[in-house]
Amino acid sequence: LQMIKDKGSFQQICRVWRFSGLKTALVPTMGYFHQGHLSLMSYAKSAADKCIVSLFVNPTQFGPNEDLEAYPRDHERDAEAAERAGADLLFIPEHGDVYAPDHATWIEVPPLSAHLCGKSRPTHFRGVATIVAKLFNLATPSLAVFGQKDWQQLAIIKKMVRDLDMAVQVVGRPIIREEDGLAMSSRNAYLTPEERKAAPMLHQGLLEAQRLVERGVVQAREIIRGVSEFYAENLPQGELDYLELVDPDRIEPVQKVENQALLATAMRLGRARLIDNLLLSGTRA
Ligand code: PAF
Repeated sequence: LQMIKDKGSFQQICRVWRFSGLKTALVPTMGYFHQGHLSLMSYAKSAADKCIVSLFVNPTQFGPNEDLEAYPRDHERDAEAAERAGADLLFIPEHGDVYAPDHATWIEVPPLSAHLCGKSRPTHFRGVATIVAKLFNLATPSLAVFGQKDWQQLAIIKKMVRDLDMAVQVVGRPIIREEDGLAMSSRNAYLTPEERKAAPMLHQGLLEAQRLVERGVVQAREIIRGVSEFYAENLPQGELDYLELVDPDRIEPVQKVENQALLATAMRLGRARLIDNLLLSGTRA
């Protein structure tokens, strides 16, 4: 595994690979790797000749009162884990090297970022889209791999790539869960042991929705009421940010589950803000 800090050298290596005919896959991350990240790297390695990983806690996607300073970091452990997962190049830039002091260009995808996480984090997706576009320009990857836990982020990146004709194939990969169902996240590190014990109920609530749909309950209002009641009973210490049924591509609210709809939720549990989602399949032929 080659580790690199300097933006120019990173761009140079990636270009040499790409233009010598190698297929390259980029896995953009903010570090503190768990199995979810490592599964993206393993996939990248299996789908391409070179697996490129970026590790940068991107300040522009954090709001003023969010956890930028507290975000967990362990570069040494991350480098070892990335190497084991098959990464060939690990890019860990300094903040000042990524954003010039007079940085002024932003990418926004308003119709998709207005919903779900965008309501309580109004500048978040602008920061995400902009850093991902910068990373695409630096790494010029054949494909880029993202986790489906951040479903809305993935939808926004796919839309950005289509709208701006970026020559990158965007691949979403399934959520990796702990044995008890909690979606893996670097932010799970914020949970106290007690909160950690309760946290899998977030996923259980989504499974409850799947059961409702299987019993023929397809109206968004009824599904949301059922899951909200489940949370009130089983996860009373959690503070629900949102629980919404949306179109999986457009991220707009839908009235009922037809074909496929995404049930997405965010909940504050102690210091952590956890997100999770489940694709619900409706009327089967
Ligand atoms: O999903 C993340 O870790 C981040 O949002 C990303 C895509 C690396 C951009 O900073």
